[in-house]
Amino acid sequence: MNRSYRYPLIMLSALFVVRFTPAAAATDPGDLGPARGSPIEEALVAPPNVPAPIHRDHPARVIVRLETHEVIREIADGVRYTFWTFNGSVPGPMIRVRQGDTVELHLKNDPTSHMAHNIDLHAVMGPGGGAASTVTPPGQESVFTFKAMRSGVFIYHCATAPVPMHIANGMYGLVVVEPPQGLPKVDEEYYVVQGDFYTTGSYHEPGLQPFDMQKMLLEQPTYVLFNGREGSLTGSNALTSKVGDAVRLFVGDAGPNLVSSFHVIGQIFDDVNVEGGTLVNHNVQTTVLPAGGATMVQMETLVPGTFLLVDHSITRAFMQGALGELKVAGPSRPDLYNKVSGGPILGAVAPPPEVAAAPGTVDATADGRRVFTQICAACHQGNAMGLPGAFPPLAMSDYLNSDPTRAIGIVLNGLSGKITVNSTGYESVMPPQGPQLNNDEIANVLTYVLNNFNNKGGTVSAAEVKAVRAASAPK
Ligand code: CU
Repeated sequence: MNRSYRYPLIMLSALFVVRFTPAAAATDPGDLGPARGSPIEEALVAPPNVPAPIHRDHPARVIVRLETHEVIREIADGVRYTFWTFNGSVPGPMIRVRQGDTVELHLKNDPTSHMAHNIDLHAVMGPGGGAASTVTPPGQESVFTFKAMRSGVFIYHCATAPVPMHIANGMYGLVVVEPPQGLPKVDEEYYVVQGDFYTTGSYHEPGLQPFDMQKMLLEQPTYVLFNGREGSLTGSNALTSKVGDAVRLFVGDAGPNLVSSFHVIGQIFDDVNVEGGTLVNHNVQTTVLPAGGATMVQMETLVPGTFLLVDHSITRAFMQGALGELKVAGPSRPDLYNKVSGGPILGAVAPPPEVAAAPGTVDATADGRRVFTQICAACHQGNAMGLPGAFPPLAMSDYLNSDPTRAIGIVLNGLSGKITVNSTGYESVMPPQGPQLNNDEIANVLTYVLNNFNNKGGTVSAAEVKAVRAASAPK
């Protein structure tokens, strides 16, 4: 067609479109039509569990009931914090709907709350993501509806001023909008949200710790955590799977400040929904979660063992709490993974069994065992026998038993150069632990080692550690 005829024709057809298309607003491809059937009450569950997958072929009206609660509970063993929560958990429960659903969201604020709260869901296309319609004073309830127009994995969070403080105190979760055809079937699904926490006390300083606004402004968190508590996904709380299973993790990063480099040590993500959207990447080692972003990762657990969930900004994992465990049970697969020779397998020797401390208190023995397991066992081994030619034993150690006070200085300041332990020479380097462990922790771990592993017994006090620390501080 000749170019000069084209424009009038296009203009003419544009005129017809405007003139004869009824209700132009209903043509968005994300809109799957009006809700059908009776309204559905969503059965919410506490993290890391998730609601069941959706097997529905039509849009529905889904009622979601959230209630904000301000609660004091442990952020780490012996450390308490005032969390602000949706439904009492950090993160709040995962909301799961189907694209095209109309969500009727009820937000109640507990009458004993001190603050107003609201909710901004990133799955919402509307002012404030719902925050504009849900500012809720204590004892009241707000209701608003939205149609879930786009599938994906989305953060929700409180957006009441000061917004970063409400997020830093734990007010967030995920809303998953499944595509109309649903998600691929897997064997296990779990839900993990990372957050950064700011306390006036240092890492592991016991007692009730207030929120620290200055640390938050500097973006220097005391804790970086999965699901709002150190240990929420480790030990008896670990995620579980079986050899050969497909595992899906819905993962979010609520911030308020940090970006996460999410990684599972010893696994490769077969599928990653990039930034929680519909683009799927494959064979990914580490995926970036923006603050206020989320993703969905899927992996096959082929080999048994314990696999660590970390933020691979790895200081956060091993020194600020961003650590979880996925325990995979089943027969070994030596064709895929096999130790051929060398020293003991890491983690093969279990430390002595755990003894639960009363809530809100620090059990010195439990704390000592924790520090030993988290730090000392990496070199000295779980049975404290050390590694021949590399790391000296702490078990039955003449070097330790002859002078426990010397050991305080070694833990605080490290040690290098040749030493002789039980008639054997060692020349390795022990890094100083003084910067990351407080006086109580050093006292607890030394007392723990002295009273286990066939050592002579005895007690090291926090006051003794304090004195050695003061004496060795730079003048
Ligand atoms: Cu709030």
